[in-house]
Amino acid sequence: MTKRIEDLKVLENKRLTKDIFVLDLLIDKTFPDFLPGQFVQVRVDGSAETFLRRPISIHDVNYDKSSIKLLIQIAGKGTETLSKLRKGDLLNLIYPLGNSFSLPSKNEKVLLVGGGCGVAPLLFLGKYLKSNGCIPDILLGFRNAERVIEYEEYLEIGKVFLTTEDGSLGEKGYVTNNSLLSTDNYDRIYCCGPDSMMRAIAVYCKKRKIICEVSLENLMACGIGACLCCIVDTVRGNLCSCIDGPVFDIKDLKW
Ligand SMILES: Cc1cc2nc3c(=O)[nH]c(=O)nc-3n(C[C@H](O)[C@H](O)[C@H](O)COP(=O)(O)OP(=O)(O)OC[C@H]3O[C@@H](n4cnc5c(N)ncnc54)[C@H](O)[C@@H]3O)c2cc1C
Ligand code: FES
Repeated sequence: MTKRIEDLKVLENKRLTKDIFVLDLLIDKTFPDFLPGQFVQVRVDGSAETFLRRPISIHDVNYDKSSIKLLIQIAGKGTETLSKLRKGDLLNLIYPLGNSFSLPSKNEKVLLVGGGCGVAPLLFLGKYLKSNGCIPDILLGFRNAERVIEYEEYLEIGKVFLTTEDGSLGEKGYVTNNSLLSTDNYDRIYCCGPDSMMRAIAVYCKKRKIICEVSLENLMACGIGACLCCIVDTVRGNLCSCIDGPVFDIKDLKW
């Protein structure tokens, strides 16, 4: 897939919580074919500290509006700068990057599992699955009710099961303890979120022989396979998370 470097216009910067926001960006040239799980490399202007581009997943794609959305959590200087973008500002992106989640076979029972800001790539994935005839269940975990994001958007895709660490909404605890995982049998699980959560889901899937793909958030610099700073040690040898990933089948990971 051809990579592009372009300035995209900010259509909206919507704040969802104190530290999470969504950028809606207009692509006014030919709209490329995006695949769920792919990411963009964002240039953050204005400081030597943010010299390296920041990798951000494609959160949503709107073919009618010719726009893509990025869901971003403020983690440091770069994302803080991005949080201040306003309608009309330009943002320079390299896109689309990385591989993508694979489609399930017909009649597979599918679950999406996301934790915190890790839900980012799952909205586009859920919509993509639905448009390909698969309605997934969706299990989302957050710290507390105040941090639950985009519940309504996920409801439009399939059944949503919520978990909060303090029990203020949905079941209490971590997604990995949700009763759904002991009552339902899935053929395939797609997972994105904190490393510990993805590892716990991987262990769960390996025990039950469930197909599972996770999206890794390894540190990245170039995003195009040139610097080798995103290496993942897999059963197939060293792979670059930016070009061979960020989506990996857990069978390939040494977890
Ligand atoms: C493929 C991929 C997809 C991602 N998708 C999203 C997303 O959709 N939404 C989102 O909010 N975040 C996403 N991230 C994480 C995001 O890239 C980092 O939070 C961001 O780069 C931090 O930049 P900063 O300048 O704000 O913070 P910094 O001050 O640079 O660092 C703050 C924290 O972020 C981590 N971090 C810094 N740079 C990177 C990097 N290049 N890659 C990964 N982690 C980094 C650091 O380890 C540190 O813990 C993704 C990361 C990867 C690799
Ligand atoms: S980020 Fe440079 S090789 Fe992957």
